[in-house]
Amino acid sequence: MSSSPKPEVRSYRNYIGGQWVKSSTGETFPVYDPSTEEVIANVAAASSADVDRAVGAGRAAFDSGPWPQTTAQDRGRILFGLAAKVRENAAMLAELESRNTGKPIVEAEFDIADVATCFEYYGGLANKVMGNVLPVPANALSFTLREPVGVAGQIIPWNYPLLMAAWKLAPALAAGCTCVLKPAEQTPLTALEFASWLEGVGVPPGVVNVINGVGETTGAALVAHPNVDKIAFTGSAAVGKLIVKSGADTLKRVSLELGGKSPNVFFADADWEAAVDGALFGVFINQGEVCSAGSRILVERKIYSKFVEAMTEKTKRIKLGPPRERDTKMGPLVSKEQYDRVTFYLEIGKKEARLAVGGSRPKQFSKGYYIEPTIFYDVDNSARIAREEIFGPVASVIPFDGEKDAIRIANDTPYGLAAAIWTRDIYKAFRVVKSFRAGIIWVNHMQPTYVEAPWGGYKQSGFGRELGPWGLEEYLETKQVFVNLDETPIGWY
Ligand code: NAI
Ligand code: MG
Repeated sequence: MSSSPKPEVRSYRNYIGGQWVKSSTGETFPVYDPSTEEVIANVAAASSADVDRAVGAGRAAFDSGPWPQTTAQDRGRILFGLAAKVRENAAMLAELESRNTGKPIVEAEFDIADVATCFEYYGGLANKVMGNVLPVPANALSFTLREPVGVAGQIIPWNYPLLMAAWKLAPALAAGCTCVLKPAEQTPLTALEFASWLEGVGVPPGVVNVINGVGETTGAALVAHPNVDKIAFTGSAAVGKLIVKSGADTLKRVSLELGGKSPNVFFADADWEAAVDGALFGVFINQGEVCSAGSRILVERKIYSKFVEAMTEKTKRIKLGPPRERDTKMGPLVSKEQYDRVTFYLEIGKKEARLAVGGSRPKQFSKGYYIEPTIFYDVDNSARIAREEIFGPVASVIPFDGEKDAIRIANDTPYGLAAAIWTRDIYKAFRVVKSFRAGIIWVNHMQPTYVEAPWGGYKQSGFGRELGPWGLEEYLETKQVFVNLDETPIGWY
């Protein structure tokens, strides 16, 4: 265990209209280090009055503030400025992200690098938003304008805190929107540090507001607010459904990136070493707290027993440890709540299937929300551990017989975020790629994510796409303009 001195417990306010604002009710909530279970910060809880103030600031900055007058080129420069701040402060941000989420420091460093890359990508895209000229059959000029959708409410989860903020803020700002961001109540700290650089790089007051609090109050107030034009949400399917219902009252634009129960499918002809590795990486990276986790591992029966054995042996060697130690491969889960939820599924799994490895709290830690990486096998695809998102280091291994059976099982899920296939047969690979009902497909890999490529799901994994030009589209309206060039009257009446 590291013996470095405890960092001070810091206090944070909400960032509204370019000011650090206390809660109108004076309320604060604690934020924890899940590896020590200690409080590391206190954060002002935004009441509905604070949400109203933040939306008002976003509204004013959009309707009458300087943001609409800022050129696309200048918005792009500002995004590059934010990326530079993230790169300059990468070590601090990675440390804080790791401390607050429990994720291994090496993974946090990757996340923070991706945050900067995301701002750079959308910085570059800001002045490449273009309309079309349309060949209408009239003596006229018909064209489209692409305009920002307005004030965007952005609600994000705790598994990749600053990266999820970047996926939402960067395209919104590139499009010319203003933002009210609500981080997850478990992990608000990196977004608040980030907010402290906004003014310095030229983001006008009110263009980005960061408000904190639990979903049921702060989040719900943002979704219901009549002056918010769009909600972008990443989180559970249950809350996604609530957001669609609540947003319906004001017909908000809604984009949703929800969870999954993504299949990771291994054929007998797959490269053995790569396959065993890929199965574990797909489900255990970030403690399994990943929306695209390959939590259903489908294995062709010919290699099934050997594959389960190989995964089991390798899993026993995964190094759980304190998140800031560089050789740690798995830290604690993010919170007591998540620990309890995953523990609940471990008990269900022990009744529904056979346990190959893991299944409880590792004995070497007296504190922290650690869970052993766990593999259940002989899982039936109708079992709860095969249907419900667990969001922890828990794999369900399911045997299959041949291609048709694999596709049937893979698609037999309410979700459709991601899927992967491992084989050396390109005919089979592409047939299966086409058959998968999911928004993200990997062949002979699982999880690589690039800002250039679209991210989002089919079915109950949500709608809309983040990243790439698709991510920008979510923040744009299309206005069609018709300019009559014929000076004769219409002459109808
Ligand atoms: P959640 O969906 O409740 O929380 C995600 C975000 O939504 C947080 O910022 C939260 O404050 C906000 N929120 C919650 N209720 C809200 C409401 N009524 N109105 C507006 N905003 C609301 O997720 P939670 O409770 O942290 O985790 C539960 C499960 O959700 C996990 O076990 C996992 O299965 C899934 N999940 C999926 C994620 C993904 O990336 N797709 C991320 C986090 C959780
Ligand atoms: Mg919740």
